Amino acid sequence: MSLNNIEEIATFIVADGKGILAADESNPTCGKRFDSIGVDSTEENRRDYREMLFRSKGMKGNIGGVILFDETIRQSAADGTSLRDVILGQSSLPGIKVDKGLQPVEGCPGETVTVGLDGLDGRLKEYASMGAKFTKWRAVINIGEGIPSDKCIDENMQALAEYAKCAQDNGMVPVVEPEVLMDGNHSIDECYEATDRSLKSLFVHLEKNGVNIKGTILKPNMVTSGKDCSEQAGVDEVAKRTLDCLMRNIPAELPGITFLSGGQPDVRATAHLDAMNKIGGFPWKLSFSYGRALQAPALRAWEGKPENISTAQDELSHRAEMNKLASLGEWEEKFEVR
Ligand code: 13P
Repeated sequence: MSLNNIEEIATFIVADGKGILAADESNPTCGKRFDSIGVDSTEENRRDYREMLFRSKGMKGNIGGVILFDETIRQSAADGTSLRDVILGQSSLPGIKVDKGLQPVEGCPGETVTVGLDGLDGRLKEYASMGAKFTKWRAVINIGEGIPSDKCIDENMQALAEYAKCAQDNGMVPVVEPEVLMDGNHSIDECYEATDRSLKSLFVHLEKNGVNIKGTILKPNMVTSGKDCSEQAGVDEVAKRTLDCLMRNIPAELPGITFLSGGQPDVRATAHLDAMNKIGGFPWKLSFSYGRALQAPALRAWEGKPENISTAQDELSHRAEMNKLASLGEWEEKFEVR
């Protein structure tokens, strides 16, 4: 792999239907996932789990990049190989989450802004020296009574743009993630509106901050009904509304859009992506950067037991292959039957 600049890195990650494995859960979030299978969230268990994922056969050819948490990029596999090298050995690129989480927005109850710009340049320099090729920053937008506010959107998108510029100045691709949460009983129309406002603001700020769009990857939510909405939009509607929102806001020069799964059931997340790629007619690669929707079946199969590793790896490989097909618009529901 000889990748000479951020544009080549971004293009590589989403080439040939490949997507991103998001494995950057913070230790508390990893703890929640492990609680669901009765496994203690120790440093060693987290390492074993991630090593298992990264050594799965289905990584190769399907996963162009893996987003890591700070602890993981410093860890080595049981045989002493760094996890970074395990990922590179699968022809995939190591990436790193660089934001520092959420804080309340002053004067805006129920809303948060993502922090982490303090000391960011120094952290990025260290990650670049450790071999990270791309980075991620997640902004969170809530839908509710009178929110999202313009102030919350503006502060989050400005921070995303400053982060993106800093990542590019350090030779790494920024994955910019403005996540409109699925939590709540809002309609798909309300999700469309919040997503539209967020994306519009994001690209204004990226432009103002001199971010090179050709060396950027966008990681948005899909436009869906809220989790608790009584009328759930179907696959075709989600695909059409999401594409419509993206077409209105995303410049053609962006190399790739990789969706988060946001708590969608794993096969549903695949079906949505496939439906959009079957419609087609857009200028960017449309792919995935799933966390839960790639990992959930593997986590359940693993149960923290060494004897389950191979079955769990088959689960991750299967989801990676299914999502690759969806990124090419070639997935069919019958492929899920094994
Ligand atoms: P999910 O696909 O589980 O939403 O995770 C993606 C991610 O990286 C959230 O920041």
